[in-house]
Amino acid sequence: MSQEQDRIFFRNYLIVLGLLALMIVIFLLAARAIGAQRGGLDAQRTAQVSEATKPVGQVRMAGDEEPAMAAAPVAQPEAPAVADASADDAGKRVYSGLCFSCHGTGLPGIPQLGDHAAWEARLADVGIDMMYEHAINGFTGASGIMMPPKGGNPALSDDEVKAAVDYMVAADK
Ligand code: HEC
Repeated sequence: MSQEQDRIFFRNYLIVLGLLALMIVIFLLAARAIGAQRGGLDAQRTAQVSEATKPVGQVRMAGDEEPAMAAAPVAQPEAPAVADASADDAGKRVYSGLCFSCHGTGLPGIPQLGDHAAWEARLADVGIDMMYEHAINGFTGASGIMMPPKGGNPALSDDEVKAAVDYMVAADK
């Protein structure tokens, strides 16, 4: 072979080698890209499956943190003294959350918040203790409409209901 032929052969040889190296790099990159995509899919699947099969409830062990979603209005022990500020707050809270639907909407036959005459009449009639009792255990009087026990929410404590009664009897509109 002449020197010229050698040179051409060597050049082509290098070009082929270079192309091969380039292909290796391209394949590596492609493989990584596909792998990454798949990984994402798998993670998505796993998340979907664990979401679909997550337990309905979980046992909370003593010392575990309070789960954030346990926001149900659980009856909390309120301060027993009806006159203090926190009881006032409880009364207002219970009234606004429940009693309002009948005692704040102007329904006829139902003593309304701020209607001092109506509340005074009942106070004079049966007295506060009996009114507590009626609010806690339910009552149907002259109106013929039922006052449901605890306004219909058995989760309320007696003290909360009493606080709501106090609030309604005393409050101005
Ligand atoms: C579904 C409607 C309704 C809801 C809710 C409701 N009440 Fe009543 N309530 C009544 C009716 C009706 C009466 C009047 C009954 C009558 O005199 O015939 C009444 C009367 C009362 C009385 C007067 C009882 C008496 O002896 O004269 C009190 C006190 C009272 N409610 C407290 C509450 C409290 C506290 C709540 C909230 C925890 C509440 N109510 C929620 C309907 C409701």
